[in-house]
Amino acid sequence: MSKSQYYTNALSNPVFKTVSKAASDLNLESYVIGGFVRDYILKRGDSKDIDIVAVGSGINLAQKVSNLLPGKPKVSVFKNYGTAMLKAGAIELEFVGARKESYQEDSRNPAVEEGTLADDQNRRDFTINAMALSLNDETFGELLDPFNGVEDLKNKIIRTPLDPDITFSDDPLRMLRAIRFATQLGFKIDKKSFDSITRNADRIKIISSERVVDELNKILASPKPSIGFAILNKTNILPHILPELSALKGVDEVKGQRHKDNFWHTLEVVDNIAKTTDNLWLRWAALLHDIGKAPTKKFDKKAGWTFHGHEFVGSKMVYKLFKRLKMPLNEKMKFVQKMVYMSSRPIVIASDVTDSAVRRLVFDAGEYIDDLMTLCEADITTKNPAKFKKYHTNFKKVRDKISEVEERDHIRNFQPPISGEEIIKTFNLKPSREIGIIKDAIKEAILEGKIPNEYEDAKLFMLQKGKELGLKTNQND
Ligand code: CTP
Repeated sequence: MSKSQYYTNALSNPVFKTVSKAASDLNLESYVIGGFVRDYILKRGDSKDIDIVAVGSGINLAQKVSNLLPGKPKVSVFKNYGTAMLKAGAIELEFVGARKESYQEDSRNPAVEEGTLADDQNRRDFTINAMALSLNDETFGELLDPFNGVEDLKNKIIRTPLDPDITFSDDPLRMLRAIRFATQLGFKIDKKSFDSITRNADRIKIISSERVVDELNKILASPKPSIGFAILNKTNILPHILPELSALKGVDEVKGQRHKDNFWHTLEVVDNIAKTTDNLWLRWAALLHDIGKAPTKKFDKKAGWTFHGHEFVGSKMVYKLFKRLKMPLNEKMKFVQKMVYMSSRPIVIASDVTDSAVRRLVFDAGEYIDDLMTLCEADITTKNPAKFKKYHTNFKKVRDKISEVEERDHIRNFQPPISGEEIIKTFNLKPSREIGIIKDAIKEAILEGKIPNEYEDAKLFMLQKGKELGLKTNQND
């Protein structure tokens, strides 16, 4: 296939002809630019987000395109940015006028000068994101690649079109984008760009948390997230955005005793979990599962290095971290907290798996028991093959026991077989502490395996417990 045919094929969706027609009606040039072109060459599947750059008004072009499309889809205009967006079926088209200046986060500053396509390409983030395909009649499908992005794609290189100090100071978020693309695509960041990120790391502080978290989520969602976190560490961006993780770095030694480097251990755990789950929040839990170890680290003459209570401390830190980064403080955060808080529980019971310990574990983890087990298995990073095998075998035993106990006792979504209501009625009680005592005693008896999780057994137990407390039943009255 000829090159021109190859690129024209990228534009087979009829919507591109519509944009082309609209642009020629308005007598302006238009191009597809950025991620769509990059992903086409990378064969990453058809991108549904398409960026169109117009040499002239992007907003006018969007309106004209809408007029030509069936049903005239609504055009959303973002005047301060000079951009407009519309949806054509599953496709989202974003229009922007070519500019001399780059994107600016400060939307109070709309005065950007109009420019040519080349001006616009100059101000984009990376060579691989600056490639454009012509939508103009005479050159339809022609690739405009002034910085040899195709070559960089082939060689798997992230590189800025201009001096990286300029590109990154235009929008410091691009430093994180570079790291994110390197992680998603398995690319290397060119040395000049890498050094510039290191030099300008502290500029990340001016970027809004929402944009930072977007990139962190994309790094975490990648096949091997450790690539990104290792670069964040090396470029020194990490302490600006996740100081809790940086604090895990390093190995101390006292009297010949060393502990493991919990930062590198954490990255291994994250990579492990990325192999088994797409659940972003479970990946966050893996990333944060040991953050309590930095503030709780102590050296004890007898016990050596200890991190007592790090799970509890870590779960508290999760809340602060989510709040600082303006992440959701809803059930997602609570899930991460719960995973961190419970992260050692299966380990503690693994060497001696009793029914009651497993019942308690399942009761406390509830619907998240499988996620917790997945996290614990990912946490096994020992390089000793015998230990590796032993730990996995132990967790397998815990998992088997969980299934067994669950089938028998239905503990996961535990509903006490006797309600508070029934206790009140049986003993003719007013609201009082006895109700709570009896309820707890029933729960404990079930978890301890003294009685099965069944109504009749629980009822007998309740009557017995009431008697012990000196309560009389209604029938006895
Ligand atoms: N862009 C830029 N600087 C930024 C963000 C975006 O120069 N800080 C440019 C790039 O040319 C990029 C295009 O705008 O390709 C579209 O940006 P965006 O939709 O955020 O990213 P994509 O490259 O499409 O990739 P992804 O969808 O994976 O984020």
